[in-house]
Amino acid sequence: MASKVDLVLKNAKLPDGRIADISITGGVVRHVGAPCPAVETIDCQQLLCLPAAVDMHVHMRGGRQLHKEDWKTGSMSAIAGGVTVVVDQPNTIPPITTPELLQARIGEAARDSVCSFAVNAGVTPDAMLEEMWQAGAMAFGEVFTAPSSYGSALTPADLENVLARIHRIGGLATIHAEEVESEESATLQGHCNARPPDGEVRAVKAVTAAAPQTSRLHFCHLSTAEAIRAAGGTVEVTPHHLFLSWEQFDDTDASVKVNPPLRRDAERRDLWLCWDRIDVIASDHAPHTLTEKSLCMREAPPGIPGVQTMVPLLVAQAYVGRVSLASIVEKTSTTPASILGIPRAGFEAGDRADFALYPERTSDISLDQLYSKCDWSPYEGRSAVFPVMVIMRGDLVYREGEFFEASPRWFPGDGYIPPQSIYYTADTAHL
Ligand code: DOR
Repeated sequence: MASKVDLVLKNAKLPDGRIADISITGGVVRHVGAPCPAVETIDCQQLLCLPAAVDMHVHMRGGRQLHKEDWKTGSMSAIAGGVTVVVDQPNTIPPITTPELLQARIGEAARDSVCSFAVNAGVTPDAMLEEMWQAGAMAFGEVFTAPSSYGSALTPADLENVLARIHRIGGLATIHAEEVESEESATLQGHCNARPPDGEVRAVKAVTAAAPQTSRLHFCHLSTAEAIRAAGGTVEVTPHHLFLSWEQFDDTDASVKVNPPLRRDAERRDLWLCWDRIDVIASDHAPHTLTEKSLCMREAPPGIPGVQTMVPLLVAQAYVGRVSLASIVEKTSTTPASILGIPRAGFEAGDRADFALYPERTSDISLDQLYSKCDWSPYEGRSAVFPVMVIMRGDLVYREGEFFEASPRWFPGDGYIPPQSIYYTADTAHL
């Protein structure tokens, strides 16, 4: 008798409309089509099954920023939003600039995260880039061309130098491209003008020109269509630049202050017209508390939370026919996995068995659904489709507000050299 698979997702609706049974064993897809005998079967009738997302850009905080977010709450938000892999940004306090700090960060995530994860290396002139690459950094950056929260700008000479070092070791440089033209402003419009759209375009061009020819460049959170067209590398756009403009808010509302800033509504709509040129949608989940966000515009920290709402907002757009489900899967799951060099989630035999199952109806976002410690969202009341179940590595890890035991995995970058004597987590034994 054929041996049983671990799990079958029965009668799931695939993005192309087919209804199929997804057989999973050992954390990977065995077969999609007719069911195999299984230890466990989950009825997925009337549920849309999408490969779970890889969010390339999250700030999980912790340490001295524990009051804003930690690995537990941030990763719960991710899972409940259909994201099973997150890439953490290194602008922690202190920033991650040594292999020891990187290892400590990976250790924290291994202890507390309920989703799989990778950690980026911080980029400052004296950061130990080569050593962090060997210690398992997924990528480098954000590389800041302008100052932002907890990140200092590099001078043009330092920028050229770090890009050359990252190129030499074959790393991926992830770029925060902006220019700051004036002092902090008192309004959202002023904040947008102080970090203007054409400054973003110039910064993108300057980085593209400064990097060695065959560099692997990834441009984070581009906020304008022109910057997307100018980028000499892969392009990432955030949900907040797609869904929000400063014109939608009171001009002194610092909750939606973010870098790069929200733009005019016309520019926001132009981003949607560039949909096909966008490689990756990532949340830039940057939680700050409501108390911090209630400060005046000059003092409030920039950043918007979004890891839990990213895919749900996009799926709602697919349901009204604005974009295809296939393109959402490509931009939130397949392409980020390919850029990062991690196995893709999908419907072919051998694919990573990470899936999220979505109902057929939209609902309005309410704060009591959200797990981020920061406890606010600019998307409250907006139409979204949250997953009712999430599967990670072939295990049911979330069902309608309940979390189950999970085996999150750490994904190191390509430069990783496993030390003989250090164990980050029992789960790294396979590496
Ligand atoms: O608005 C932002 N917030 N932009 C960044 O680049 C950093 C982020 C944060 O960490 O809060």
